[in-house]
Amino acid sequence: MDGAIVALEDIPTDSTVLFRVTDGEDEREAILVTNGDAGDGDGEIDGHSEDGRDGENDGNSADDSRAEPHVTCWLNYCQHLTHIKIDKGSGAPMRDGELVCANHGAYFDTTSGECTYGPCEGAYLTELEVSVSDGTVYLTDDEYAFVGDGPIDDDDDLTSTSNVKM
Ligand code: FES
Repeated sequence: MDGAIVALEDIPTDSTVLFRVTDGEDEREAILVTNGDAGDGDGEIDGHSEDGRDGENDGNSADDSRAEPHVTCWLNYCQHLTHIKIDKGSGAPMRDGELVCANHGAYFDTTSGECTYGPCEGAYLTELEVSVSDGTVYLTDDEYAFVGDGPIDDDDDLTSTSNVKM
């Protein structure tokens, strides 16, 4: 299948995986996030109830057959200042299962993409469709095609000579 991004087990549970996509015209950056244990599915999911939120989904993990982790994918641009990248190239920070934009401290729910706290509260990250098959995450979004791993290397670095033809 085209569009293989990364092995599921290689997605950290406390940070993001950065890669490049194209919409046919422009290259953009995207990030993968996983909620939960990419391992053996023993039901151990980090407690979401610690913060006292409404706890709708907190219930009994024994009951909850979420053996596979939930993987989501977002364009790597904050909704406060949309030229700002959430993952600067070495993984975005996460706190209590939420993605954090380090610039001004916006928190994003990794399931819905909604900013739950910060200057863009209520705004949503742009989601890309991904699917998991045989332990590999694939980009399955009709609007975007996978380009490669890692960040776009030509947007901040004017000293790059990688495009210079000798
Ligand atoms: S640029 Fe992300 S919170 Fe301000």
